[in-house]
Amino acid sequence: MSITVRVPAKVNVQLAVGAARPDGFHDLANVFLAVSLYDEVTATPADELRITCSGPDADQVPLDTTNLAARAAAALAARHGISPDVHLHIAKDIPVAGGMAGGSADGAGALLACDALWGTGATRDELLDICAGLGSDVPFSLVGGAALGTGRGERLTPLEVGGTFHWVFAVADGGLSTPAVYGEFDRLTAGTDVPAPAASPALLDALRTGDTTLLAGALVNDLQPAALSLRPSLAATLAAGTGAGALAGLVSGSGPTTAFLVKDEEAARTVADALIASGTCRTARTATSPAPGATQIRT
Ligand code: C5P
Repeated sequence: MSITVRVPAKVNVQLAVGAARPDGFHDLANVFLAVSLYDEVTATPADELRITCSGPDADQVPLDTTNLAARAAAALAARHGISPDVHLHIAKDIPVAGGMAGGSADGAGALLACDALWGTGATRDELLDICAGLGSDVPFSLVGGAALGTGRGERLTPLEVGGTFHWVFAVADGGLSTPAVYGEFDRLTAGTDVPAPAASPALLDALRTGDTTLLAGALVNDLQPAALSLRPSLAATLAAGTGAGALAGLVSGSGPTTAFLVKDEEAARTVADALIASGTCRTARTATSPAPGATQIRT
């Protein structure tokens, strides 16, 4: 028997970053929106914990115990006093190390798949607790939809979304390290008074009413200057997307994927084609939001 779970990518429509905390993390007001690009994690009984991965970027995915899917299985097994003997296969469609929470998605997916496979019957709270231990973005990968993440991003408040938003994602060559981008944020803001992060009322209104134009005006990512500083070529990608008619563009999370909000599906196709033709990105993908969180799709 195998269990397959599908998990969405995310874009941060607002990423407000506070000053570094004593533990090195940053307090955030992180408005997550799940988008319709998905990884699938399949759990099958095996003699020992093993990870495989397929998809165009599979060679960039670590297959050892640093993979969040492996850590999720080990954490669930340890809590229930069992051995994590499972083969986890990741069918990867979310850009790797791109700021779209692909690794977090695999952690949340593996957790849900192993819980079903092993019959551990973890409660939602227990699953969320394990997710928070795996990484700041992992709880959101489990719940999907839209949510405000506070603390280091792991404390979630679900948000209402009143419509469908259309996106284009420009996938860059290579990844960016999240700790390196936060480090660059610290360097760029050193000696300045970094305000406490707070969710923008205008942005929450735009989500609630499903108003694309309002959302476009409210998109903000405090990590963008840091990502651009480490990867200056992203400025050309942003210019290509907005020049092709996107309502707004921003770096997704810690990057280097850039996200473009567009009016509708037709505009998404036009902007994606223009981005690919511009030569400023490796490829471009279209998607919609909100998308559901981790969901079992096959047994
Ligand atoms: O929680 P996660 O493992 O995804 O975080 C990866 C790294 O990103 C952390 O080690 C830290 O450097 C940075 N980070 C941060 N503040 C956050 C979330 C992540 O500084 N709120």
